[in-house]
Amino acid sequence: MSTNFAHPLDPLSSDELSTVFNHAKTAWNLTERHLVAMCQLEEPNKAEVLAWNAGDELVRAARLAILDRSTAEVYEGVITTTGEVRSWKLIEGAKSPVLSTESTAAMAVAKADSRIREALIRRGVTDPDEQVHIETWPIGAQIPKYLDDGRRLVWTPMWMKPNQDSNMYAHPINGLYAIIDLQTLEVVDIEDGEVTPTPMASGDFRLSQTGGHVKLKDLQIVQKDGVSCEIEGWKVNWERWNFRVGWDQREGLVIHDVRFDDNGVERRIGYRLSIAELVIPYGDPSQGTYRKNAFDTGEYGLGNYTNSLTLGCDCLGEIVYLDVAHLTPEGNVKEIKNAICMHEEDFGILWKHVDVDGHVEVRRGRRFVVSSIVTINNYEYGYYWYFYQDGSVEFEAKLTGILLTLSDAPGVPHPSATQLEEGLWAPYHQHTFCARLDLDIDGGTNTVIEVDSVATPFGPENPHGSAYVTSQDVIKSESDAARLLDLAKSRYWKIINPNKKNHVGQPVGFKILGNVNCLPFADPESVIGKRAGFMYRHLWVTKNSKAERYPAGEYPYQHAGGDGLPRWSQANRSLENEDVVMWYVFGLNHIPRLEDWPVMPVERLGFTLKPVGFFKRSPAMDVAPSMATCLRCKGDSTQPCTCNH
Ligand code: CO
Repeated sequence: MSTNFAHPLDPLSSDELSTVFNHAKTAWNLTERHLVAMCQLEEPNKAEVLAWNAGDELVRAARLAILDRSTAEVYEGVITTTGEVRSWKLIEGAKSPVLSTESTAAMAVAKADSRIREALIRRGVTDPDEQVHIETWPIGAQIPKYLDDGRRLVWTPMWMKPNQDSNMYAHPINGLYAIIDLQTLEVVDIEDGEVTPTPMASGDFRLSQTGGHVKLKDLQIVQKDGVSCEIEGWKVNWERWNFRVGWDQREGLVIHDVRFDDNGVERRIGYRLSIAELVIPYGDPSQGTYRKNAFDTGEYGLGNYTNSLTLGCDCLGEIVYLDVAHLTPEGNVKEIKNAICMHEEDFGILWKHVDVDGHVEVRRGRRFVVSSIVTINNYEYGYYWYFYQDGSVEFEAKLTGILLTLSDAPGVPHPSATQLEEGLWAPYHQHTFCARLDLDIDGGTNTVIEVDSVATPFGPENPHGSAYVTSQDVIKSESDAARLLDLAKSRYWKIINPNKKNHVGQPVGFKILGNVNCLPFADPESVIGKRAGFMYRHLWVTKNSKAERYPAGEYPYQHAGGDGLPRWSQANRSLENEDVVMWYVFGLNHIPRLEDWPVMPVERLGFTLKPVGFFKRSPAMDVAPSMATCLRCKGDSTQPCTCNH
């Protein structure tokens, strides 16, 4: 039995993962025909976690999704590290995410198929073994009619790799796709369309190819007195914040139990914060693109693709890393070293004022960063959580990597794509994220309110025409809780605790503020529109339920649609003064630029949770001034930086 955890929300350790898998093999008669589709910490109920004290008894448990390869059925079970089975059942109709083992096998099957090889040779490939890379994509429920009998399928975009270090995305092979049955590992169809030239302009990006000749002087971030955080296992104490870091095979980075020390009173803000789905619908209708609608979280398991980070490159400064582990489809433990990076960053000025007599008060701001990066085929996604000294928490997604491309005969128009080179196109697409935010503002029961700013009509209330007021609309129940942003009303949403008032008699709260956002262009009746119905609203609010974890449902792979938030909301549960979950949907409408090629400079989007009436006044007032030495007056480094240089 394994007891190497410090808290109920710690991610499953390597020991725990191998222990639960060994128990699962015995309990559920798992053989070579079974694959682990997902293994997650079975989080105890919130009340249990909040009541838990170090040293208390706790039996840890894992939730496993098991794929039976012989039937393509998915079973789900919960089993403890002591071998006790809590549940085990067939999930009717569920389709497993595509597993790495299956991808590898499917690629080999496609490559070995004589029809594919001949079709590749017709397209100018001289050595299909060495010069072609095949990707296995979820078919996206866009299945040829005669194959649509419930089987699990992948389809396979192919790329030419003229040399081992070529950027294959510069050389998409047009018009050739295999459809492979993941259960039988047969090529069940080949879509062999028009033969067009493969674009051969280079997409090189390696240093050996680009030279990287633009150089700057070295920049080091040094904390000579050490870091300001205390990290005990997965728990972080920094500044007045404390929270727990978590990690999940499906969602990747998770933040738990966020609290803030408000003048000696520890106040709860968030119980569990994660990015519960990421879906990328592509907008080009051509044969090679219309199926590209990957749910990177729900169809791949985003956490599986977590990078090992490198000091000085991915992260700069005094870094603390956390390692993570997950089960491979075969049930082996895979460890990812340096998977999560934590450090402090200077973040410019926190606040400043020069008084009439010339007196200066200025505070430098600092933020604490928790981050990780995944690579899924062509794209990289960085997830960054920031904790600020003004009481705010920010999530930022960093998007980089290589544009997905298509090729076509020169001169063929693609109005839904950007031409990068002759015959090479980057289709328009949207990166749509959904954050699941189980916030607990000063306690477990909260209410969400939509706040609009509204101009007062000219009249006795507004004689000068400049007046405006805010109107507050309480989101009472789930039928009422799917909302859109409205720029004309400067709309925002806040989550308040109606049971806890601040010193001016208003309920304490936090608001959510997005930055970049968009709406989907896919028709709601399209296959992707139905499968990712959550995309059509920016905010959803639901009553907290452990069973409602992902906005497009537990098993989006080839799902017919309608699952997740649109379905749950029909229950129309009451949301006033309840344990609620806010789901914030935010997207980047990506019209590719030439400057996004061949590797896209980081694009950023996300949201900030800002206190509104949560504190009595700015918590940044308590921050001490920096003691930095002014290089000009060679001032005393024990004095605040209040010189006027
Ligand atoms: Co993009």
